[in-house]
Amino acid sequence: LLQGNGVKGLSDMGLKTLPKQYVQPLEERPSSFDNLLLHQQSIPIIDMANWQDPAVAEKICDAAEKWGFFQVINHGVPLQVLHNAKAATYRFFELPASEKVKYSKENSGTNNVRYGSSFSPDKEKALEWKDYLSLFFVSEDEAASTWPPACRDETLEYLKETETVIKSLLKVLMKRLNVKEIDETKESLFMGSKRINLNYYPICPDPDLTVAIGRHSDVSTLTVLLQDETGGLYVRDNHGSGENWIHVPPVSGSLVINIGDALQIMSNGRYKSVEHRVTANGSKIRVSVPIFVNPKPSSVIGPLPDVVASGEKALYKNVLYSDYVKHFFRKAHDGKQTIEFAE
Ligand code: SIN
Ligand code: FE2
Repeated sequence: LLQGNGVKGLSDMGLKTLPKQYVQPLEERPSSFDNLLLHQQSIPIIDMANWQDPAVAEKICDAAEKWGFFQVINHGVPLQVLHNAKAATYRFFELPASEKVKYSKENSGTNNVRYGSSFSPDKEKALEWKDYLSLFFVSEDEAASTWPPACRDETLEYLKETETVIKSLLKVLMKRLNVKEIDETKESLFMGSKRINLNYYPICPDPDLTVAIGRHSDVSTLTVLLQDETGGLYVRDNHGSGENWIHVPPVSGSLVINIGDALQIMSNGRYKSVEHRVTANGSKIRVSVPIFVNPKPSSVIGPLPDVVASGEKALYKNVLYSDYVKHFFRKAHDGKQTIEFAE
């Protein structure tokens, strides 16, 4: 069906109806969470300019506990770097199919580079309306020889420029957990590996029937997400009854931060990894560039000793992070189920 040009190829053909493979079950369609528009709550937007100020730190930690999601502004990543990362995403997906397929799972020659569509097409009940390029960062040298030149330099620069804000956020979040110093061992546990995705969501002939990304939680420690001005990211609100989803409105120059499963586990449930999903759009292309800040694959993750030292009961088992990730990729996007693996 896709022949190397992904969902973009379908979109470019100007289809008038959505191919049936993309038709989602009723409960996954956007109409099932429209109630959200009436909802008053919103995800906090936090100014990081004075991140060491206890009042700012408190906002960050509160948001991580309550919503698992927040946006940051004045985060120190130059706006030009953000702009370039989005432009690089367009540049890659606008390549001819014959160029893009060189980076597919079958052709890329490395597990660290993968161009594809949907999330796990063989396991999904219905496909997702998206194309992506997923890049696991090993080193600049490795990236130089395996990542697509069309987007490599901008992507590497974005990775480099986000390092400081990531470290600041971890420092603040760990302080509330009584982890005072992030030594080398802890740094590798919290951010020992990184994956960056370039997501491209083509214009959809019938956005009411499908999704761009199905409900899931991230398996990261935390995720730094750059979104464009299109909108469509929804976050689950676990506070009320029923199913409420909150839109994360695009804020120019901001980065969306969310807590992943690994940090929920390490914080013994204090910080929340929250389900989210993305709707398809009938008139605009959307791109997003998440950085998944992950434990090292060989790390064993579990509730941090500093957290359970106070006599708190450990809510999770210790698990090898690479096993945890394997578990995640074994299933379709189906909500927040991977965490049961650590319970
Ligand atoms: C994701 O959840 O992986 C991406 C979210 C987005 O595109 O906004
Ligand atoms: Fe996600």
